[in-house]
Amino acid sequence: MALRFFLLNLYDMQTSEKILVIGSSGQIGTELVQNLRNIYGVENVIASDVKITEQSKEGPFEVIDVLNAQGLLEIVKRHKVNQVYLLAALLSATAEKMPKLAWDLNMNGLLNVLELAKEKIINKIYWPSSIAVFGPNTPKENTPQYTVMEPSTVYGISKQAGERWCEYYFNRYGVDVRSLRYPGLIGWKSAPGGGTTDYAVHIFHEGLKSGTYECFLSENAVLPMMYMPDAVKATISIMQAEPEKIKIRSSYNLAGFSFSPKEIAAEIKKHIPDFRITYKQDSRQQIADSWPKSIDASEAFKDWGWKPEFDLTGMTSDMIKNLQKKQSIKI
Ligand code: SER
Repeated sequence: MALRFFLLNLYDMQTSEKILVIGSSGQIGTELVQNLRNIYGVENVIASDVKITEQSKEGPFEVIDVLNAQGLLEIVKRHKVNQVYLLAALLSATAEKMPKLAWDLNMNGLLNVLELAKEKIINKIYWPSSIAVFGPNTPKENTPQYTVMEPSTVYGISKQAGERWCEYYFNRYGVDVRSLRYPGLIGWKSAPGGGTTDYAVHIFHEGLKSGTYECFLSENAVLPMMYMPDAVKATISIMQAEPEKIKIRSSYNLAGFSFSPKEIAAEIKKHIPDFRITYKQDSRQQIADSWPKSIDASEAFKDWGWKPEFDLTGMTSDMIKNLQKKQSIKI
């Protein structure tokens, strides 16, 4: 009886959700799509990006420019989409090079998707925010959910404004939008693009390839980070939580663990004894200096049960193991 009930529920979950992931070929999307497909079925998760990618071979895929509201609407209607994960954005370092484009993409892309929910064409949205919403005047240690923000990067400004829009659409139009302030994300399945925290991914690739890494942040630049399996777990958990549990409709603080380049290098050395790190700071140091060192995620824990699994040691050995496997398969 219990098994029948479970299977019926699973069947229901698989058939009732039609999910569109926008910006699906990026760092988060690549892993999120695989996980969503495991839960909801390949056909019920439509991947999409601004250009066709390898992902198009794995299941339904659409080319979407999220700034084209009409094009987006057509695809949403054609696939009978009821949930959107909006991941398309320019990250912190790239956004500083093209501030206006970053503002346009990060902001108007979100508004286009919020409008779809306001018009009841879709019924649930996931949109990522970031630790970049915090700025130089924010308390750096164990940064609380509610505090001084004042972001100083265009990426952070767009994320903070986006949070305000999400809360506004929830309060005013009842839009079910859910969001997390991701720390720096580290994963082995896909390449990162344009972030300040990306050194913590490149260091593994370079370490395995050449045994050395030149870091663009200083040795003591501590930042909050998270391993991708935890980020994907958090994303799916908040989306699956009962709506009453989601008390914060701007964006939840989310935490994994924090470390400096020096500390991650020491951890890598345990696996690659000859590994060497050198430092040559660039403009990304200034961005890192404006962000928190650690995050208080107690609201996420209290409201919908957030708990990370990985720490620096666990993440490092898992990254190295998987990248080694991936590289040897390639050869
Ligand atoms: N990882 C992002 C960046 O560095 C922050 O959300 O831009």
